[in-house]
Amino acid sequence: MSACVSAANARQVLASTSPTVFTAWATQGTSRRRGHPPSFPLLQCTVSRLLRAYPADAAHLPILKRSLPSAHSSARALLFQCAIETVCSSPHPMEARAGGSSSDCDQLKSLSSNLNGKGKDRDLCIPVYSAPEVLQKLKSKWDSVEKQPYRAMYSSVFGGITVDPTMMVIPLDDHMVHRGHGVFDTAMILDGYIYELDDHLDRLLGSASMAKIAPPFPKSTLKSILIQTTAVSQCKRGSLRYWLSAGPGDFLLSSAGCPTSAFYAVVVEEDYVPLEQGVKVTTSTVRMKPPEFATMKSVNYLPNVLAVLEAEEKGAYTSIWVDDDGYVAEGPNVNVAFISPSKELLLPSFDKILGGCTAKRLITLAAALVDQGLLKSVCVENITVDQAKGSAEMMLVGSGLPILPITMWDEQPIGDGKVGELTLALSDLLWQDMVLGPETHRIPVPYV
Ligand SMILES: Cc1ncc(COP(=O)(O)O)c(C=O)c1O
Repeated sequence: MSACVSAANARQVLASTSPTVFTAWATQGTSRRRGHPPSFPLLQCTVSRLLRAYPADAAHLPILKRSLPSAHSSARALLFQCAIETVCSSPHPMEARAGGSSSDCDQLKSLSSNLNGKGKDRDLCIPVYSAPEVLQKLKSKWDSVEKQPYRAMYSSVFGGITVDPTMMVIPLDDHMVHRGHGVFDTAMILDGYIYELDDHLDRLLGSASMAKIAPPFPKSTLKSILIQTTAVSQCKRGSLRYWLSAGPGDFLLSSAGCPTSAFYAVVVEEDYVPLEQGVKVTTSTVRMKPPEFATMKSVNYLPNVLAVLEAEEKGAYTSIWVDDDGYVAEGPNVNVAFISPSKELLLPSFDKILGGCTAKRLITLAAALVDQGLLKSVCVENITVDQAKGSAEMMLVGSGLPILPITMWDEQPIGDGKVGELTLALSDLLWQDMVLGPETHRIPVPYV
């Protein structure tokens, strides 16, 4: 049966005395693919059309009444929304129609409250908007924002860039949205340069491969899209955030129904300043992800979110994961590093945690402090909690910080409880690299 309902078709269906015909039509007949339930937007649109073409009148309400309870429960809720919206907001009041009465609306509402339960929501009548109305609603949200931080967005779904925040949306049936089948990464924009874009893109592609997402474009195209999006944004300081997703398609578990993977990017205006105040951290009680997921930057960050919320509830800046073998791992969106009492820079090995681009850059840059005799060595190894808590200095390392001194861990001071000098020296090294480093690590943005 066609998804587009003609007035005659609508009349025929509504005039049918068989509730099963209506139910079958409403819940299955509109399906684009045999054997699959109709998509909800399609169902909603079809029922809206049906009721607009032939508004429910007294004669047909009993049919609706008999049909709807047997329909699939979610479909039923949608049918009701459409029915109530159409009948109650009709530009031609029902009482003015031959055969109709003002009680139609009440009947639908009472039918709705019988099925949807009682209480404060019984008279809830959700509007059904046209596309321009939805757009207007979404726009009005942004109209009240004095300075909107999202400067530009690229979407492979429409194949271009928009600077209108209203349009910075992704489809609900994208596998990344409803199944978490997507990976992401970021890069800093500093003084008109993008920092370490190649390393972040390599990590994105590594994550995509682990997540079985074939990117829609090669790396060179992804890079060009990111540079052009930043150029259009006019943003000189901020973050470039991007996602590779299995793409839109359907709501099933397998991504087999998602024909093309998707790429999205957004430029967010942000300021960065060196952070020199020490912060407190706490050991996370939220279990860390197993290595195959921790080493991939997928959008499944619920453990990370819960870990940071736990820290905030305890008055700490963030939390630290310790793995099942008792070794220090990482924070929920940062790596950690330590200065041992004998002045070694120590970082946990990357085999069970995310390979941080900032931490890896730090390892390279720290060689300068070894050459100057300020550091004894740089080691990447397993670090026990006792060893870590007995260190002279501790720091968080990650894009956007890039180094944040830690002075307390689980209410215990690290070293003398003050911000360490070597931590500040490492922070200076990274800042220098970010603002003045070689163009192999900083891409100038060709602003238009
Ligand atoms: C879990 C996790 N660990 C570490 C990091 C630090 O990585 P980067 O230095 O590349 O920002 C991040 C941030 O991306 C992260 O999410």
